[in-house]
Amino acid sequence: MERTFIMIKPDGIQRRIMGEVISRIENKGFKILRAKLFKPSKSLIEEHYQEHREKEFFHELIDYISGESVMIMEVEGESAVEVMRLMIGNKDPKLAAPGTIRGDFSNEKTQNVIHGSDSIENANREISLWF
Ligand code: GTP
Repeated sequence: MERTFIMIKPDGIQRRIMGEVISRIENKGFKILRAKLFKPSKSLIEEHYQEHREKEFFHELIDYISGESVMIMEVEGESAVEVMRLMIGNKDPKLAAPGTIRGDFSNEKTQNVIHGSDSIENANREISLWF
């Protein structure tokens, strides 16, 4: 069965919609295999977002997560990577459809509630990195 890495980002924790997000994941039929609520180190966040190191929003992205609590999850189910990306919605607020997590809970480019791996390869990398 396919596995993906999910992170509820600091705005999701602070706004107390963690339960809502977890409910959506479980209602879809996915199984949460492992979960942890903690404050990741800056180096862990930088490693996670290494592909964006050169982007102009990189520091904003790292500062937003640094020193704050996130919830990380290993989620298992049929086509978990692709289906979770569909449930999460587009990162551009103007393209995040209502009914998706971002479409329903965020209108921001950086503070967008949740992260989900974008490929099976990245899911394996991120699960090994975070757990
Ligand atoms: P993640 O699931 O968090 O990886 O988001 P994504 O795969 O939908 O987007 P991407 O990997 O391209 O970007 C990672 C994160 O960087 C996004 O979720 C945003 O938090 C932030 N981000 C991406 N693009 C922009 C941008 O153009 N401007 C700003 N301010 N933040 C961005």
